[in-house]
Amino acid sequence: METEKARLLTGDTPTGKLHLGHWVGSLENRIAMQDEYECFFILANLHAFTTNYQHPDKIRQSVLDITLDYLAAGIDPKKSHIFIQSEVPAIAELTFLFSMLLAFSRIMRNPTIKDEIRDKQLGDTYSFGFPLYAVGQTADILAFRPSVVPVSEDQLAHLEMTREVARKFNQLYCHVDPHTQDEDYLKSGGLLPIVKARLGRIRRLVGLGTPNKDGRLLKMSKSLNNAIFLSDTAKIVEKKIMGMYTDPSRLRPTDKGHIDNNPLWIFHDTFTLDKEWLAGAKQRYQEGKIGDVECKKKLIASINQLLEPMHKRREIYEKFPKEIHRVLQQGTEKANAIANKTLMLVKKLMKQDYFI
Ligand code: TRP
Repeated sequence: METEKARLLTGDTPTGKLHLGHWVGSLENRIAMQDEYECFFILANLHAFTTNYQHPDKIRQSVLDITLDYLAAGIDPKKSHIFIQSEVPAIAELTFLFSMLLAFSRIMRNPTIKDEIRDKQLGDTYSFGFPLYAVGQTADILAFRPSVVPVSEDQLAHLEMTREVARKFNQLYCHVDPHTQDEDYLKSGGLLPIVKARLGRIRRLVGLGTPNKDGRLLKMSKSLNNAIFLSDTAKIVEKKIMGMYTDPSRLRPTDKGHIDNNPLWIFHDTFTLDKEWLAGAKQRYQEGKIGDVECKKKLIASINQLLEPMHKRREIYEKFPKEIHRVLQQGTEKANAIANKTLMLVKKLMKQDYFI
């Protein structure tokens, strides 16, 4: 039975483990919204093949790792559904149908696709499946006809394309007037919602490393080796933060320090709840009256305070690995029920419902 709650859909591409950037970018929001929405979290394993097709073992492991990260972070499988993309065939069928509604040139103008080609140095060697994943993401989302899609900033381009597909579908096959306001498409007879993004409180968390040539701090990313993972133990967190880059102009603790563009303070602003300490410490840092070590120790405590309850939940699930499997199976079953229904309605509206 479908519940009355509005639906939420989002997810991750399984190519590694989740880190603090994922937490503030989206995961934290998802956990806060579990009661209000019926949540679906997709593990986009097919998308992982776009750049990792040589590493199927890695993708398989990452599906399990991220599921455990989700559960440890506080996603409650009694309320929310975690599912595997490739086990929901309706998504693949919708991808094929929706791919007709987008010009190929439009996909190649998608800024996220362009950035990925540049950053991952794909040149012109990428597979056909690589740009196809962007169409696939419109199907991941629309299969669930969600009200809200919590994502990080780099996903906004995909959400824009998702809205374009939905508008076009509704106009062509549900005869919705093209002048309709986005929020009115459903009540005007459309099937597919014009989805809204929900951004995290921090759009782009920096990593632990040094800035690049033009002084810009790079974002936290597994591939840049500058991440704190949700699964990092208190000891590892301590080691990473003690070794992290701060302000190079400060050679002694008594030198005046800079707050701007300094990851130490960016992290404190993000994770330290004791705002009174923070305001005072920033002042003292700029006056050269507090050392890096003291500030780092406080930061270690703040981050470990966030991660500790996650470690506790992780330990419980680690004792019952079958439970992970069961969560995925149940989540996928529920996802199939919803996605199959959308596919049936889509085919009907496209007049391709021959045997029902
Ligand atoms: N592209 C997203 C990422 O790499 C993962 C993803 C796939 C997704 N399908 C989605 C996110 C649908 C939100 C909605 O992070």
